[in-house]
Amino acid sequence: MDGNTISKSMSCLLKPHALGATKALIDQNKLKSRVVEMGAEITANFADRRLTVIAVSNGAILFVADLVRSIDLPMQLDSITAYSYSGTKSSGDVKIFSDLKLDITGRSVLLVDDILDTGRTLSKIVEFLKTLEPSGVETCVLLDKPSRRVVDIKADYIGFEVPDVFVVGYGLDYNEYYRNLPYVAVIEPEKG
Ligand code: IMP
Ligand code: MG
Repeated sequence: MDGNTISKSMSCLLKPHALGATKALIDQNKLKSRVVEMGAEITANFADRRLTVIAVSNGAILFVADLVRSIDLPMQLDSITAYSYSGTKSSGDVKIFSDLKLDITGRSVLLVDDILDTGRTLSKIVEFLKTLEPSGVETCVLLDKPSRRVVDIKADYIGFEVPDVFVVGYGLDYNEYYRNLPYVAVIEPEKG
């Protein structure tokens, strides 16, 4: 199954329930308890700071929605959009669309993304945010695939380390599908 095949078939013939089968890698209970732990850690570490959480759209929106509900601090929430993927391949060319609505000057920013893969996206967004003169930028990712790193970047908060497999669900997509799966999964190879 490649990106073209699935997107062409989806646009005409297939209904969403006909998407390829998935196998859970991180189930809902594990996600829930880890996200609560991360929220508690962030609450403790940002207690004396003026926190602005910035989610990378669209992948981080489910994760950030749960995460901020476990952060027990006054905080602001905004989002920024980045693209580099088509299907399971990163183009390597990260595009940022800054749709930030809040002024982050002097604020402590926590940048939240779904997954840290090659590191290009997060490092480019961090670089951009720093030009807006926040007091600092820390990073938080649900998933980390350290084996794929191209840019030297480590996230400050990591939910789970995953092997070098393409994952979907809980915000992560394959050609924009699967984001609504309530758990993190791998797409099963087609039989036959
Ligand atoms: P990076 O720039 O290579 O670190 O990639 C980060 C972005 O690529 C993430 O924000 C995801 O949107 C996407 N990505 C990387 N790996 C996966 C994956 O396994 N499944 C779905 N999206 C992924
Ligand atoms: Mg993404």
